[in-house]
Amino acid sequence: MTNIIWMSGHERLVDDMVRADNCSLYDADGKRYVDLESGVWCTPIGHGHPETRRVMADQAARIGHTGFCYGSGVVEQAAAKVLDLHAMTGGQCVFLCSGSEAVEYGVRVAQTVSPKPLLMTMTDSYFGVYGSAYRKEKDQWFLFDWMECADCPLTGECRPACPRWAAIPFEKIGGFLFEPGSSSGLVRFPPDKLIRGIAAKIKDAGGLFLVNEVTTGVGRTGEWFGYQHYGVSPDIAAMGKGIGNGYPVSVTAIAPRVADRLADQPVPYAQSHMNDPLGAALAHTVLTVIAQEGLIERGRDIAARLMAGLEGIQSRTDGIAALRGRGLMVAVELQDDDQASRTTRCHRDLVRRGYILGKRPGLNVLRLDPSLTIETADIDGFLETFEQVLLGGE
Ligand SMILES: Cc1ncc(COP(=O)(O)O)c(C=O)c1O
Repeated sequence: MTNIIWMSGHERLVDDMVRADNCSLYDADGKRYVDLESGVWCTPIGHGHPETRRVMADQAARIGHTGFCYGSGVVEQAAAKVLDLHAMTGGQCVFLCSGSEAVEYGVRVAQTVSPKPLLMTMTDSYFGVYGSAYRKEKDQWFLFDWMECADCPLTGECRPACPRWAAIPFEKIGGFLFEPGSSSGLVRFPPDKLIRGIAAKIKDAGGLFLVNEVTTGVGRTGEWFGYQHYGVSPDIAAMGKGIGNGYPVSVTAIAPRVADRLADQPVPYAQSHMNDPLGAALAHTVLTVIAQEGLIERGRDIAARLMAGLEGIQSRTDGIAALRGRGLMVAVELQDDDQASRTTRCHRDLVRRGYILGKRPGLNVLRLDPSLTIETADIDGFLETFEQVLLGGE
């Protein structure tokens, strides 16, 4: 029995992790684990990056937290950097504490400025644990199941030929919230033309295009942000996880055309750590390190090596049913029974051998989201070990 409420459904596989360095975690006995999951997909520049350690110490020594009536140049500087990356210069940001919160804030903005009653999203999107985006109630959300669109036989644009398109109640929809590919942990990518078509239709009618970049942002998918693979530009972008590299900071960025509309219609939202200098300083540092160290390009190279290795294993064993990935966001679907018992065994075995991957309860999917800074030796070591595990060897 422990005094900690554990994440429900997840096994506790190591009792006492005591230290981390880049992609290595060490338990109390000094055993090393390669973290291929980046915590909860949160450390794009590796655990304990020297710059984040330095900035945390410096900023905490100066000022970590302020009240609502007191600004800070550090927060302004971080906001300018975030907006610049989204080509939203002149827009506004709010710094918050979790991915769920950043998405919910974006939703509140859309609900505040939109005269229409509904927001639209895909049925398999995950937005976290708060508010309207979590509950997705019918009087506030229109959910679209895109699975049949994955094998769409129609050529050309979605509209007007498709009956599924025709069934979308665009006249009631004031915003489209898109989550570009994490897809409730399964790593699936809705077709480009569908996303571009919906975003354009809603924007043309004065509505908003929102993106949830909590998982796909900050270099994870081989671009700065997952939406960039679709050739679209959002009005509102929510970021979390990787932007703090393990520190709980998130941010919602709002394009100028929407920020202007908020001037006389403020969003009813307040919490104690909005725009704290410490979190903002970390976000600024993470973005700076990614750019300065060329980590997006590095992540692409590592991703190509990882995917090639996985494809090799798929061809040599009968264990892998499907591989899906974009950059360093990869799902390995195993051949398994309904209980996903092989996946559970495989996951436990990999952890025992020192490799940490993501696994959701009851699913036959292992997920890899390593830091963009991971060493190629660790990727190669994982591939060798994974093949042994699938073949049932020691
Ligand atoms: C796609 C996506 N959106 C939002 C969230 C919520 O982020 P957080 O857990 O930091 O609140 C998550 C968390 O896993 C996520 O994967």
